[in-house]
This record gives sequence, C-alpha cells and structure tokens, in this order.
Amino acid sequence: MRIDIITCLPRLLESPFSDSILKRAQQKELVTVAIHDLREYTTHKHRTTDDYAFGGGAGMVMMIEPIDRCIEHLKSERNYDEIIYMSPDGDLLTQPIANELSLKKNLILLCGHYKGVDERVREHLITREISIGNYVLSGGELAAAVVADAVIRLLPGVLNDETSALTDSFQDGLVAPPVYTRPATYKGWKVPEVLLSGHEARISQWKHEKSLERTKKRRPGLLGEV
Ligand code: ADE
Repeated sequence: MRIDIITCLPRLLESPFSDSILKRAQQKELVTVAIHDLREYTTHKHRTTDDYAFGGGAGMVMMIEPIDRCIEHLKSERNYDEIIYMSPDGDLLTQPIANELSLKKNLILLCGHYKGVDERVREHLITREISIGNYVLSGGELAAAVVADAVIRLLPGVLNDETSALTDSFQDGLVAPPVYTRPATYKGWKVPEVLLSGHEARISQWKHEKSLERTKKRRPGLLGEV
C-alpha cells in the first residue's frame, strides 16, 4: 500500500511515521508513506499556498492551483483509489472505514489549513472527506496521521499475533475487555481470578462477557441500543 500526504506543513508529519509500528511497517516495505510539501507546487514567487477569501471574511483560504498541480503530478505516476480531504465536516472516521481503506492500494490524504481549501478542490479534485471527530484542529495533519495509523496497523504483517488487530475494540462490534499484567496483586488490588486459572474456555467466556458489559455501558450504539 502507498499513502501520499499533501501538506503545507510537512514537518508536522515527521514524527508520527518515524517510530514504533508505523516506522517498522515502512522498513518492512508493507507501506510507503510519502509526504509532499505543497509549497513545492506553487508558481508564486513567494511560494504562498493561501490567499484572502473572495467576498471577505476572516481567515485565509488554501488556493486550488498548488493542490491541483500536486495531485496531477501524483496521478501521472499511478492510479489512486481515493483522494481524501481531511475536514472537520467530513464523514466521521470509524473502524469499518479504516478497514475499508486498508484494502486499497494507493491513497492521497490532503491536509487543509486556515479556513479550509477553495471549494472547487472539494468539488472537482477529491473523492471523499474524512473527519476524526466533531472538533476543529489547527490543520488536517494530525487527522491525516490518525487515519494513516488506523489503516496501516491493519495491513497484513504489520502487527504480530499478540497485538493482532482482530482483537481490537470495535473489530467485532464490541469494545475490548479489560487487560491486566503482573503483579497479580498490587496494593491489595487483585487481578480477576479467572485470568490466572489457565482455563482457556473460561477465560474466553469471561473476556466476551466483559466486552459485552463494557460495550453496553460505554458504546450502547454498537449494540443497536442507542
Ligand atoms: N481538520 C481540522 N479539524 C479536523 C478534524 N476534526 N478532522 C479532520 N480534519 C480536520
């Protein structure tokens, strides 16, 4: 899989991909993440990528030209399954959306800034809009990193058996059960006896019950009981 991220602040995206699981996924060549600096695609002498809004109003708007030139350049090199604009009013990211995107081959994530992008970008250049929640970030970069992380960890070979994405919250429509590690007793607070029993069937039954209990309490919507 390949993920191209278009941004006017490329440094913001350095660290999320330089550590741990996302770094290893790239080293193992399970994914290529390429960050593109929009400023490289301007024809402007000051390399600006934004301008005042027509009709007035506070805040700068990202111009269509550098975005179009960057996307055209990428599309001349390969076909893209989706060109996604990160936006607070896009479709809310969920596990099923992450699952769906993880099956694609090439994705572009476009990060917005300031008051957003010229509306013609949304009308003509992108195929989909994704939000990571109903709040406004300073830019789409952190949101793009969240989408990339949620997708990359699902790629075969990225996680090992112990950390398998199959046991994640939401993957079977339930949130994950509680987990414990040593010591078995800390300040008198005990780990549930069943987890120390070595009895596989009882342990899985317990985990399933706890998942259900927790889902009912925290995400009843997942059970259709909104
Ligand atoms: N850009 C700014 N806020 C955002 C959000 N909540 N989700 C995605 N992109 C954004």
